Amino acid sequence: MSDTVQKNLNYKKYVIDSRLQYFKPHSTKIEKSFAEDISSSLIDDSKFINPKYFYDKKGSELFEKICTLPEYYPTRTEISILKNLQDELPNYIDHTFRLVELGSGASIKTRLLLDIFTSIQKKIEYFPIDISEILTESSELLLKDYDNLHITGIIDTYEGGLEFLKTYDDKKNLIIFLGSSFGNFTPKDGHRFLQKIHSTMKSDDLFLIGLDLVKDKEILESAYDDSQGITAKFNLNVLSRINDELDADFDLDNFSHHAVYNDKDQRIEMYLQSLVNQSVIISKSNLTLHLEKDELIHTEYSHKYRLTQIQDFLTKTGFKIKHTWLDDKKHFSLTLVSKN
Ligand code: AVI
Repeated sequence: MSDTVQKNLNYKKYVIDSRLQYFKPHSTKIEKSFAEDISSSLIDDSKFINPKYFYDKKGSELFEKICTLPEYYPTRTEISILKNLQDELPNYIDHTFRLVELGSGASIKTRLLLDIFTSIQKKIEYFPIDISEILTESSELLLKDYDNLHITGIIDTYEGGLEFLKTYDDKKNLIIFLGSSFGNFTPKDGHRFLQKIHSTMKSDDLFLIGLDLVKDKEILESAYDDSQGITAKFNLNVLSRINDELDADFDLDNFSHHAVYNDKDQRIEMYLQSLVNQSVIISKSNLTLHLEKDELIHTEYSHKYRLTQIQDFLTKTGFKIKHTWLDDKKHFSLTLVSKN
């Protein structure tokens, strides 16, 4: 580890054992608190809740369940593409690459990539970047199953973690961002995010991004409004979280889950619909929220893309497309790009 990291970027290093270490910034940039965020996003006429707040413990468990639902095709489809990559990805990476994941996965997807690395490397380096300390748990699970694995976790924002990586050493990185999580950004934030990735990549680094594709409205809408009502629970759970953490009195029976595909903007839009005229007190946000019957609180966008659009926005950011892999039904895509 070079001193530069400690000096320039102010990360503290935690060595757990010879195969596991973490870096954590001494101080993170001050982010708006949950309470402030909620009060500013619910005070306007067009009310919304940032989808990042879905993922408390219960929300993360519900999301895991969503990934296994028959209607929710993205996870299993992306896995099927990754399985097919076992032969082809080694054409683009060699023994000098490490795997860097935006988000920390002990998931089957991370494992499929680690399997590819195992087929070409004796010692594998994996750098998960995640703001959540859950990274430590998922890392320990992976170490149990891969003897040749060495993990350096970066507990920071994706942007912070990428900056860290840029000055860390000269090793080449395969950075992965899977699950079409990119689709949850607004177009403006998504554009900024890609620019950030591009500017922090070193010249030999590669970036693999999983993106969901435009398809029949019926398939899309049932993926986000499943027959077992798990997505509805996931959506409503954000209100329970506000009740618990911000001392609020949302009555969940007074809301329903609403998911609709917006053709023009090519995205699923999720809302919580108020079933009655009601007032809700959110004590820690200093807010009394008035909602009319049928009024909507927007909770998530999930953008879907056409292949030409993916090529277009990636090349406009400055990336060079190496390859795009699809499943048989062309429901999902994985695109590998280099910096130039
Ligand atoms: C995490 N993200 C990519 C999921 C999606 O499909 O947009 C979140 C999700 N929302 C409802 N179902 C799944």
